[in-house]
Amino acid sequence: MARPPRLLVVHHTVSPATEAMLEAVRSGTRAEGIAGVEIVVRAALSATAADVLAAGAVVLGTPANLGYISGALKHFFDTVYYTVREETRGLPYAAYLHATEGPEGALRALASITTGLGWVRARPDVVVSGMPTPTDLEACWELAATLALGVVGDTPAGDPGAAG
Ligand SMILES: Cc1cc2nc3c(=O)[nH]c(=O)nc-3n(C[C@H](O)[C@H](O)[C@H](O)COP(=O)(O)O)c2cc1C
Repeated sequence: MARPPRLLVVHHTVSPATEAMLEAVRSGTRAEGIAGVEIVVRAALSATAADVLAAGAVVLGTPANLGYISGALKHFFDTVYYTVREETRGLPYAAYLHATEGPEGALRALASITTGLGWVRARPDVVVSGMPTPTDLEACWELAATLALGVVGDTPAGDPGAAG
């Protein structure tokens, strides 16, 4: 079944670094050549199961807090998990993470939750430490542009080399 031409960005953004990364993601969704994709950007505390069910792909963004994903993003998953699990199997997603210390726990959490949902990682996780460099922001931009293109392309935004 064709996926909806809509990219959902679910993020927790509370700091200059995460704000810069979100802006790069927003900019990536507006990249030249991307047409016919609706972009829906939701703070993690306001994103709903209906948002997820209407999405053709999802970008997840969070800082590492206490060595885990932010409570807000965890709340998002806690809220939507059982409602969306059956219908969104195979949904392409990609994640960006800001972590100055200990990204491992947050990355493990993202991998484990999305595996439980049956979502498919479409791009390698983007992990940024400290104030994002232009290269970091370009990685965020590219992540979002790829996902946005994927929801309207013939091929899903899957990347066989994206297991890392
Ligand atoms: C409750 C709380 C816990 C945090 N735990 C971590 C952590 O485990 N690792 C980390 O790198 N940063 C941690 N931070 C810092 C934020 O992740 C940080 O603000 C974010 O990565 C963005 O960086 P910036 O404040 O320099 O813009 C924590 C922040 C809060 C509020």
